[in-house]
Amino acid sequence: MSTKGNVYAVILAGGTGTRMQSATPKQFLYLGGMPIFIHSVKALLSEPSVKELWIGANGDWYELAKEQISQFCGNDPRIHVCEGGNDREATMMNTLNGIRSNNEVTDDDIVLIHDAVRPFVTRRIIRDVIKEMEFCDVCNTVVPVNDTIVQSVDGALISGMPKRSELFCGQSPQGFKINALLRAYANIDAETRKQLTETSMICFKNNMPIHTVKGEFFNFKITTPYDMQVAEHIIGYVREHMD
Ligand code: CTP
Repeated sequence: MSTKGNVYAVILAGGTGTRMQSATPKQFLYLGGMPIFIHSVKALLSEPSVKELWIGANGDWYELAKEQISQFCGNDPRIHVCEGGNDREATMMNTLNGIRSNNEVTDDDIVLIHDAVRPFVTRRIIRDVIKEMEFCDVCNTVVPVNDTIVQSVDGALISGMPKRSELFCGQSPQGFKINALLRAYANIDAETRKQLTETSMICFKNNMPIHTVKGEFFNFKITTPYDMQVAEHIIGYVREHMD
């Protein structure tokens, strides 16, 4: 893989998963014989150019994360675990601080930021994001939408019907030049930070061009018990179709 800088990876595993309604956060539940987040860890580590992988896990679940890593990944020296934060961006900042505490980060160095709860990410997506990062500071993984999306400001009346051919769903991993992302984050105010639902939004709010690579429909985020059922049913299919 030809990138000018070092490649780092981050797994965001600090969520509590309230919509899953399980006592243990969903990233630590088992799917196909492994905790969900371990699928994500193994996928990212299968890319040899990843120099370090940082996992942010919430205080209460930090020890469980470490135990599961040691059980399923042994003592891979590329893996580092740090504390998660109160929201997704706080977890992300903790992992980036971890990377920076261990390394001299240059403007060419990139990070792939991935949701722990997208276990079906493929090596093809990971490679495509890394390749695209040669040409940009930010790159998002997307799939086209199949349904017509309608907008409703009050949840009752339809207020907008955007053109379907121009709409995509954002997935992860997302790629960033680390220093460019940190500069963009420092540039947004507290009110905007509260509205962030994913990381590339930080860059969008800073008017930075965001490139895209093609995701996969099966690279969905496990959010609800229904998603877990779907994941259990499709895991065999996904393994056959993963490259
Ligand atoms: N995440 C994180 N730190 C947080 C909150 C979320 O690292 N403080 C991570 C989650 O672990 C997950 C990803 O961000 O891998 C996407 O989060 P999402 O599923 O939307 O949120 P959760 O908090 O996990 O679930 P819920 O919104 O249902 O409570």
